[in-house]
Amino acid sequence: MNQPLDIGIIGIGRMGWVHAAHMLELERETGACRLRAVVDREPERLARFASEQRYSGPVFDSLDAYLAADAAKATMVVAPTEHHQHLAMSLVRAGHRVLLEKPLTGTLEGDIACCAELDRDYPDALMLAFQRRYDAALTFGRDLMNQGAIGRVFKVYSALEDSGPPPDGYQSGGILPDMSVHNVDEILWLAGRMPDRAMAVGSVLHNKHVASCEEDFDDAMLYMWFGEELMGQVQVTRNHVSGYRVETVIYGDQGQIQIGHFEQKPGAIIVEAFGRRGRTEPISRKVFPGGNGAAAAPEFVDRFGPAYKAEVAAFVDCCRTGAPFPATHRDGLRAQQVIGAAMRAVHTREGGAIVG
Ligand SMILES: NC(=O)c1ccc[n+]([C@@H]2O[C@H](COP(=O)([O-])OP(=O)(O)OC[C@H]3O[C@@H](n4cnc5c(N)ncnc54)[C@H](O)[C@@H]3O)[C@@H](O)[C@H]2O)c1
Repeated sequence: MNQPLDIGIIGIGRMGWVHAAHMLELERETGACRLRAVVDREPERLARFASEQRYSGPVFDSLDAYLAADAAKATMVVAPTEHHQHLAMSLVRAGHRVLLEKPLTGTLEGDIACCAELDRDYPDALMLAFQRRYDAALTFGRDLMNQGAIGRVFKVYSALEDSGPPPDGYQSGGILPDMSVHNVDEILWLAGRMPDRAMAVGSVLHNKHVASCEEDFDDAMLYMWFGEELMGQVQVTRNHVSGYRVETVIYGDQGQIQIGHFEQKPGAIIVEAFGRRGRTEPISRKVFPGGNGAAAAPEFVDRFGPAYKAEVAAFVDCCRTGAPFPATHRDGLRAQQVIGAAMRAVHTREGGAIVG
C-alpha cells in the first residue's frame, strides 16, 4: 500500500494530545499517515488542539458523528478507560482497525467479553497500546537478557511511580489495572510466558487523602511466580513526589541488568548490565534519549516520548502492510488475568495485626 493511512483519534486529553501530535509529526516526516479526524466531546479542547497544533482537518464531538462522516478506517482510542469497550467495539464492528490505549477495558469481565467477540469475528482488528514494547532502552535490555549476558534469570523487578494523583475526575478501576498493567505486560513480554500465581499488597499512604480521583489504593505491590524458577515484582505508586520514576532490574545468576534510574530532570535513559561482584566495568552500557517533553507535557512523555511515537508508527505500518499487530487484545487479557488473580489475593494493613 503506497497511499498514506487515513487515521482518526478519539480523545485528546493528557495522553491523546501526545498521540495526535505524533500523528501530525509522522505525517510531516514520513507521509505514511494523514490525521483525518480528531474527536472529543469537549469542543473547547478541539479548538485548542486545532489552534496550537495547526490542524485544519475535520473535528467531531461524538463517535456517531465521526462514523457517519466515514473520514477514516483506522482509529486510535484515547478516551477514559470506562469508554474503551464501547468505543473500540463500535469502531471494530464498523470495519475500523483500532489502536486502543491501555488497559483493554479495565476489568477482567470486560476483557473476557471483548476478547470473545474479537477472537470470533475480528481477530486482527485491535492493537493494544503497550508502549514499553517499542521502548529502545527496554528492548536493548531484553536483548541482553536473551543473549545470556547475566546467566539464568530468576527475578524481574519493575517500578512505575507517578509524582501525584491523576487529574480531577479521572476514573480508574484501581491502581493495579490502571498502572501496573504496564509492568505486568512488560514482565510477561520479558518472560515469554504466564505466571501460575500472583498476589498484591495495597496501601493508602498519601495522595489518596488529598486527591479527588476515585481509586482503591495509592500504592501497591504485585508479586507473580513462574513456577519456582522466576518471579516478577511490580511496584506502583502515585506518591513519588520527587518526580516520575520508571526502573526495571533483571536479576540473573551471573549479574543484573538495570534499565533506567530516577533523575529529577530526566534527559537520558541508561541501560547497564553488571557482572558478578568484583568486576570493575559493566558488561554493557548504552544511553538512550528521553522524550524531552515541553514544560506543560505530562511527566510520562519525558520517559516514553520516543516509544509513544514508535508505537503509532508501528500501528500505521501494520495497517499499511497487513503485518500482524505486535500487541493485541489477547495481551491485554493476559495482563488483566494476572492482575485479577493478584487482586483476589490482595493484602492490606487490615491483615497480620501484631497482638500481645
Ligand atoms: N500509555 C500511557 O502511558 C498512558 C498514560 C496516561 C493515560 N493513558 C490512558 O489513556 C486513556 C486516557 O487517559 P487521559 O489521562 O488522557 O484522560 P483525560 O481525561 O486527560 O482525557 C480523555 C479525553 O477524552 C475525552 N472524552 C471522554 N469521553 C469521550 C467520549 N465518549 N468520546 C470522545 N471523547 C471523550 C475527554 O473530553 C478528554 O479530552 C486512559 O485509558 C488511560 O489509561 C495511558
